[in-house]
Amino acid sequence: MPRGPRREGWLHRNPRRLQPGFTRPPRRPGKTHHGLARVLSKLGVASRSEAADMIAAGRVLVNGRTARDPEQPTDQSVDLIEVDGRAATGAKPVYLAMHKPAGVLTTAHDPEGRPTVYTLLPDDLNSWVFPVGRLDGPTSGLLLFTNDSRVGDALTDPESGVPKVYEVKVKPQMSAEALAALEQGVELDEGFVTRPARVHVLSSNPGSTWFELTIREGKNRQVRRMALAVGHEVTKLRRTRVGPVELGDLKSGTCRPLTAAEIRALKVLARGPGGRR
Ligand code: URA
Repeated sequence: MPRGPRREGWLHRNPRRLQPGFTRPPRRPGKTHHGLARVLSKLGVASRSEAADMIAAGRVLVNGRTARDPEQPTDQSVDLIEVDGRAATGAKPVYLAMHKPAGVLTTAHDPEGRPTVYTLLPDDLNSWVFPVGRLDGPTSGLLLFTNDSRVGDALTDPESGVPKVYEVKVKPQMSAEALAALEQGVELDEGFVTRPARVHVLSSNPGSTWFELTIREGKNRQVRRMALAVGHEVTKLRRTRVGPVELGDLKSGTCRPLTAAEIRALKVLARGPGGRR
């Protein structure tokens, strides 16, 4: 599994950690520590389950001692974590847009061996990245990846209100009443009522309707369940925008790095209204 490069900057900021006799300062109040496997995945070393395997294989040292427990409480700002003898101090942030094809799963490992989004990531990434939210197997379109857990977690927070735009094809033709119901909010099966959405019809004929749907939440299979709530089956679903990032003409099955302007805009969104988060 690729690892981030050795970060000299971190060593310069924390030179005492490398000296004999260094004792770890007391933990700060508040929860600054997490399980070691989770910390390794947040540092971009590997997925949580791969990190657990690395720990089990004795490849991870915390403050000079071989770690055995993936849940060992670890504070990345205090503890010295080494993987295969190199300090794990956080890789360079990575932000990618992928055009996920239909039929590819948003998971790291599929027990049945079906293709996953990880097989489509560039080979030269030097960090573990995770998808920002997920798309169902049959859904295509824009999927973001990052190793910046602050931005990723904030964007998937149900309260973030980040707009996501989908092109939806349903059968049969959808009535104006049903489209209006999608805009106003529909009740999904467990009693959850969707927030107001935006609907823009692209084309309609007796057999089907194509429309653009903008939602600001991300319940599991939300678009398909919204359509079902008004009696329609989704036959095609494609995500074309997440916040400031557009799918554009990115070729199916490929990735591109986000632009500096897109990254800045995502960070502003991640801070929340008035910089709350
Ligand atoms: N809504 C769905 O139903 N599926 C997706 O993949 C994304 C949103």
